[in-house]
Amino acid sequence: MSAHGINEWALDVTQPGLETWLEDHFRNHGLPRFFVWCIGVYDRRPLTEYGTVRMRTVLDTNLTALLVALRTVVAAAVEQRSPLRVVVVGSQASVNGGTDAVYAAAKAGCVAAVKSVAREYGRHGITANIVSPGPTNTTMAEVMGDERRRHYESTIPIGRFTEPLEVAAAAVWLLTEAPPAITGTVLDVDGGLVRR
Ligand SMILES: NC(=O)c1ccc[n+]([C@@H]2O[C@H](COP(=O)([O-])OP(=O)(O)OC[C@H]3O[C@@H](n4cnc5c(N)ncnc54)[C@H](OP(=O)(O)O)[C@@H]3O)[C@@H](O)[C@H]2O)c1
Repeated sequence: MSAHGINEWALDVTQPGLETWLEDHFRNHGLPRFFVWCIGVYDRRPLTEYGTVRMRTVLDTNLTALLVALRTVVAAAVEQRSPLRVVVVGSQASVNGGTDAVYAAAKAGCVAAVKSVAREYGRHGITANIVSPGPTNTTMAEVMGDERRRHYESTIPIGRFTEPLEVAAAAVWLLTEAPPAITGTVLDVDGGLVRR
């Protein structure tokens, strides 16, 4: 447990304390060279069935918490003159829209946030990119149901869902071997679903 009573490896990012948790973590373990944000919630709920409280929670989880985390890690990197590579997991929903307007809107906000960080802090040695998955074989995709899954499988050019390891491989590449000139971009990892 940290000094703030938060289990070091279990934190609800919608609750106050994310910034303090990160600052404690950097103090105890050093500033990271790489920062990956993968957290997300997806209700697959029509907009008309969203209550305002749940709407705020979905926005907070998918977007506000990311902004808080980016503010914290970028400020620390700038202060310590430390290079930093950021990767945020977005979603094809940010381009195509989706069956959850709140989720799609939050993911579109993530893209704008990352592009802004790339633009504002590039001269400080900070790169920031989005990895944007299509439907991927994780528990999140299970809410979709068989009919929607079949629809996607017939629509995705490679004829199948993305595997989590394919998303991870793209993130690792951006964090390691990718040229630093690649920043502020969105890398689609979706079997060809989004064609920009
Ligand atoms: N699967 C897809 O089809 C798909 C498609 C496009 C984009 N994505 C994106 O891929 C990323 C990973 O999702 P996934 O598919 O791996 O889904 P997942 O299995 O549901 O994972 C979601 C993750 O977010 C964490 N999380 C949710 N709410 C949180 C909160 N309030 N505080 C802290 N952590 C929280 C969960 O932690 P716990 O396990 O502790 O709850 C879990 O680790 C997400 O950003 C998602 O939007 C997924």
